[in-house]
Amino acid sequence: MGWFQDFDGERMKILFLNGPNLNLLGTREPGIYGTLTLADIERAVRGRAEGRKIEVDFRQSNHEGELVTWIQEARGTRDAIVLNAAAYTHTSVALRDAISASGVPTIEIHLSNVHAREAFRHHSHIAAVCRGQVSGFGVGSYLLGLEAAVIVIEGA
Ligand code: DQA
Repeated sequence: MGWFQDFDGERMKILFLNGPNLNLLGTREPGIYGTLTLADIERAVRGRAEGRKIEVDFRQSNHEGELVTWIQEARGTRDAIVLNAAAYTHTSVALRDAISASGVPTIEIHLSNVHAREAFRHHSHIAAVCRGQVSGFGVGSYLLGLEAAVIVIEGA
């Protein structure tokens, strides 16, 4: 019996948010991002959550404001957010402020290792208001993000 199964509260509500261009996964620069589509990644996440007290909501938007709205709505309705903000990671003060204002513990994730890429990807506007970052493991970053969210929710 894993520690996560000891959680005896309500179901953990985890919101996965995906930013711009992640709808193109599968065909988008497969050498960097792999060949899985976002739907494949969602299936993998749901598979990992299955049979556990976890409720997954999985969304994507190319619009910064829509992501801001979803983060705002997570306050009081979700226990954690797992966020691949994509390019907005490196540009968006609005997303940073939304995470901060919502107070919902947020895990920053990236498929690629952003620190091994161009210098402009080394800075994250959201890192300081996130609980931590997972970067460089492809679909594994999403699965690790899920586990990180569970750990944060359980206060382990
Ligand atoms: C990304 C990394 C970002 O730098 C990039 O803009 C993306 C995807 C990743 O998952 O590796 O769109 O967040």
